[in-house]
Amino acid sequence: MTPLVPSFPAARLRRLRKSPALRAMVSENHLSPADFIWPVFVMAGSDDETAIPSMPGVTRKTVDRIAEAAREAADLGVQAMCIFPYTAMEHRTEDCAEAWNPDNLSNRAIRTIKDAVPEMAVMTDIALDPYNINGHDGFVENGEIVNDRTVDALVKMALAQAEAGADILGPSDMMDGRIGAIRTALEENHNPDVAILSYSAKYASAFYGPFRDAVGASSALKGDKKTYQMQPANSDEAMRLIARDISEGADMVMVKPGMPYLDICRRAKDTFGVPTFAYQVSGEYAMLTAAAQNGWLDREKVMLESLLAFKRAGCDGILTYFAIDAAKALNG
Ligand code: PBG
Repeated sequence: MTPLVPSFPAARLRRLRKSPALRAMVSENHLSPADFIWPVFVMAGSDDETAIPSMPGVTRKTVDRIAEAAREAADLGVQAMCIFPYTAMEHRTEDCAEAWNPDNLSNRAIRTIKDAVPEMAVMTDIALDPYNINGHDGFVENGEIVNDRTVDALVKMALAQAEAGADILGPSDMMDGRIGAIRTALEENHNPDVAILSYSAKYASAFYGPFRDAVGASSALKGDKKTYQMQPANSDEAMRLIARDISEGADMVMVKPGMPYLDICRRAKDTFGVPTFAYQVSGEYAMLTAAAQNGWLDREKVMLESLLAFKRAGCDGILTYFAIDAAKALNG
């Protein structure tokens, strides 16, 4: 589209910026609480929560507190939550068996939320890192992250989450072939209506640091994730990954991190036109919050501006740790 702009003074583009009413009339993009998927960290115990120092304002919560949080989120108009477990050290093993335990923390949280707030869409994370002794998303054999054996384990994990009542599965592991394997298993196991939001274009990013603190994987992680997560230099490759995941049965796709990769969001939306999400990751949250705590940025304003940027870039929704605060701000 080539913008048609008559010459001055026929065109005075400031005319439509004159008042809040006029600006609202011509606003091209809008944010609403329904745009957000709220990531939450769940831990063992009851009626308790602990702070995550690198994510000020975010806590790990026990399952009962997660259910209360779900009620608050729903009342604010936030309609989806994504669960990440803080797994006790004794449940982190080389074989990662806790990952597909029907009663693991994550699966208990799914059931509890669905019981307490049935209308809440519950999303999960599929990757072995919270259960893996070495912090990787896949099994490690002789120093290598192996693909196909990992996919078999991810399928078991997916089925356990679907059985627990998850509405949306979020494979975040970046193994090849996992979407097709999970989709086939869901069909065969009579779970045809469980959606997959694939972390299709997930980059090997330094912005995940605070998240790894939150799930207790920072000290565990040996090496880096560059043999499976994407290199930040690439954009065409992201389109290939998204095309591949859609063809294997993903219903929605994700770009991650968010703010440094808005070009990928726009390109994905224009190329495929499928429901497209961005993950405004822990490091993005930490940056904005730390600057605000220093008095250098206005927290509420940069929060809303950064979230609106995702809509402008073509995203249908955003995974964001700001979900509750942004919903409150939008609701006035
Ligand atoms: C793990 C996973 C990560 C995040 C979501 N799922 C971290 C990683 O890949 O190391 C990051 C989220 C964030 O930084 O907020 N599979």
